[in-house]
Amino acid sequence: MHVPVAIIGCGPSGLLLSHLLHVQGIDSIILERKDRAYVEGRIRAGVLEMGTVGLMERVGVDARMKREGIIHGGIYISVNGKRQHVNIEELTGGSTVMIYGQTEVTKDLIQARLDHGGEIVFEAEDVSLHDIETSKPRVRYVKDGNPVELSCDYIAACDGFHGVGRQTMPQSKLKTYEKVYPFGWLGVLAKAKPVADELIYASHDRGFALCSMRSESVVRHYVQVPSSDKIEDWSDDRFWSELRVRLGEADGELVNEGEVFEKSIAPLRSFVAEPLSHGRLFLAGDAGHIVPPTGAKGLNLAASDVHYLSEALIGKFKQNRDDLLETYSDTALARVWKAERFSWWMTTMLHTFDDHHDFDGRIRRAELEYILSSKAGLTTLAENYVGLPY
Ligand code: FAD
Ligand code: DHB
Repeated sequence: MHVPVAIIGCGPSGLLLSHLLHVQGIDSIILERKDRAYVEGRIRAGVLEMGTVGLMERVGVDARMKREGIIHGGIYISVNGKRQHVNIEELTGGSTVMIYGQTEVTKDLIQARLDHGGEIVFEAEDVSLHDIETSKPRVRYVKDGNPVELSCDYIAACDGFHGVGRQTMPQSKLKTYEKVYPFGWLGVLAKAKPVADELIYASHDRGFALCSMRSESVVRHYVQVPSSDKIEDWSDDRFWSELRVRLGEADGELVNEGEVFEKSIAPLRSFVAEPLSHGRLFLAGDAGHIVPPTGAKGLNLAASDVHYLSEALIGKFKQNRDDLLETYSDTALARVWKAERFSWWMTTMLHTFDDHHDFDGRIRRAELEYILSSKAGLTTLAENYVGLPY
């Protein structure tokens, strides 16, 4: 069997790419190692930039998002219990973000893909990529115990940080950059009313906390925890009381407790692989880079990569242009590195490190106080938070 584009991974990047190609009449197949219920049940990000919302509109998968998503024109930043509003809409001349869970984005994109006759092979085992330096690359996998081989024109590795795509690139051609932080985020989903009308990013001497939401009745909250902590260390009671402490006395009172129905710890890491392409293989999303979640950029960067990659593939299939495919890596990486910088900066400024009583810790606190007191500082934060232009 031959398909123009073989896409590895059924996360937001693989799904969006498949849709963007479909609306231009270009066929693709998605190979996903997990089953559909697993992919649709994964709890991850919650903030969509307008660019990401625009891509969902372009592929016509925006109806439920428009109905159920919540537009936010600002965030709160709290420092040791003192909360300040950052009016992002005003600071950026009208830009906002959309609160709509990645889980819902994924469910909507899968359903629409299948409704349009698109092919997604779930539980595709042992995916391997071959002949990526030739004009006829091949993909092999095993389905229900049977080996399958596909030939294709291009392979898009949208298969996340642990995927097969980056591992198939010749390691001598790949340069990686990495920073691992000495803490993770304990995240909780609970049936409760949000703490405030917008998200609260809280910097506290005991550690960072974030109060987010999925709807008027479901909250998503996070607290910074040491990398060595295990989920068993955190009873629901311990979580709620730590969250209250980090929000300070007045805002702590506003926390509504409710049934916790998901709890997990995610490590924090910054990572970039260069280049994002080799031969006929192209990396997009977490396959090529990871950001710590503080700036809410992971999912949005996956979307911007896919925007550039879809334009490049459409240019090739419609106009036989090679230039956009040749420059894809540089074009995507230019935006990736700016989001890496913003995510690192927000993480560094808002989290507590072991040195917070030392010089470096004092400098971080001074930087946060400066940013919060300066229109120029707040503007730089706001324009990055809503997402830099494509
Ligand atoms: P993924 O969503 O990782 O999708 C990759 C897909 O490829 C998966 O379905 C995987 O099963 C599949 N796959 C992998 N290997 C293979 C293979 N060999 N063969 C076939 N299929 C394969 N970002 C935020 O902004 N805020 C957050 O709060 C946040 N929380 C996160 C929590 C966790 C635990 C993780 C892992 C990420 C989180 N992120 C968060 C980041 C954000 O979710 C990602 O940036 C986003 O999912 C990237 O989308 P993607 O499609 O590139 O990759
Ligand atoms: C959420 C996650 C983030 O990383 C963030 O910065 C804001 C919100 C969330 O899961 O809701």
